[in-house]
Amino acid sequence: MKSEELFKEALNLFPMGVNSPVRYYSPIPVMFKRGMGSKIFDVNDKQYIDYSLGFGPMILGHANEGIVRIMNEQIDKGILFGSITENEIQLGKIIKNSVKSIEMMRFTNSGTEATMHAMRLARGYTKKNLILKMEGGYHGAHDYSLIKSGSGTMTFGKPSSDGVPEEISKTVVVGQYNDKESIENIFKKYGNNIAAVITEPILGNIGVINPENDFLPFLREITEKHSSLLIFDEVITGFRFGFGAYQDIINIKPDITTMGKIIGGGMPIGLFGAGEEIMKNISPYGDVYEAGTFSGNPLSMATGIAALNTLKGKNYNYINNYAKRMEKSLNDIINDYKINGSVNRAYSMFQIFFNDRKVNSYGIAKNSDAGKFKRMFDQLLKKGIYVPPSQFETQFISFAHDDNDLQKTMDAYDTVLKCL
Ligand SMILES: Cc1ncc(COP(=O)(O)O)c(C=O)c1O
Repeated sequence: MKSEELFKEALNLFPMGVNSPVRYYSPIPVMFKRGMGSKIFDVNDKQYIDYSLGFGPMILGHANEGIVRIMNEQIDKGILFGSITENEIQLGKIIKNSVKSIEMMRFTNSGTEATMHAMRLARGYTKKNLILKMEGGYHGAHDYSLIKSGSGTMTFGKPSSDGVPEEISKTVVVGQYNDKESIENIFKKYGNNIAAVITEPILGNIGVINPENDFLPFLREITEKHSSLLIFDEVITGFRFGFGAYQDIINIKPDITTMGKIIGGGMPIGLFGAGEEIMKNISPYGDVYEAGTFSGNPLSMATGIAALNTLKGKNYNYINNYAKRMEKSLNDIINDYKINGSVNRAYSMFQIFFNDRKVNSYGIAKNSDAGKFKRMFDQLLKKGIYVPPSQFETQFISFAHDDNDLQKTMDAYDTVLKCL
């Protein structure tokens, strides 16, 4: 098979053959060559309905005609000048007009860069050192993000990766999402030195976990009380549930917001933004340094403008309802075949967990049966359904998915889950 031959070559070039770890799965990852609407096609021309959508960004589906046209126009004009362009201003205005807490922003090339700079900004602004993150919360692959908790919530985080210096892990404290007490205890102990709490408002990197028990308003309150900043990492949730950020749906104003994925229409992008007072600490206004050769590059900006302008005319109920129908059908199948499992959904993103408990915390999520998920993944793949290759990722719906896709997908799930 062509993909096997190609993967052998990839193995000689990239660790485990991939350029980002979750792309690897056994025996060999599918090698894709093109996408159109809700479908992606592998090198052997097999078609799959795509629920990974490039891990989130492709909310309009693949090769969207309007976006491709704008990209080509920009390519003809040139793609990098290393100076300010009108494209940045246009995309900046769209973001500022649709996210209340953002008065100023900086574009970056990835969500990783965005959260790294947001943490530095919080530290520079507050003159405090510690960042409080949630166990299971993912904010990219920089040193301050790759920290998980030790045995108790009162301990400093342990690095999730070799190569992260202990000195750095000592500047990140790890709390439990949806557990107010764990956060209160950390604030009791380190409250005066916490620069910021960073969280995905809805966890999307451990499957999907929704906020409960006023957890997010509580985070807003406790950070204000201790003069710490609240950072909402909306790299996944930004423009996913409606036109704008999740924070405005739930009416909570974080101090700093990070975004990425959808706002670039499929091109590399990230941003961090905040009120003017905080953002004016960024160099060369202020003393917090941040830079990037490709930041705000004309092609990412043009693609982002095209994507957001197209999204503005869309009715998000369409993708939210599609996911709701999938959730219902999946729950029916789970009940019919008496499977230990459940579905967590937030608007148009969801995940099926193989777990006999309701999944509302990292602790419960991580005990899900990842082996069973992998068996489901393998069988779905055979039937032409591509979901993200891990129990701890999220499935996404695009505006290109239609009723036909839904029917085929549910038929496939029915057969696969019955056999599991
Ligand atoms: C919530 C969140 N923050 C940050 C990142 C990092 O973004 P990127 O992969 O663009 O660096 C991700 C990536 O999946 C994410 O889900």
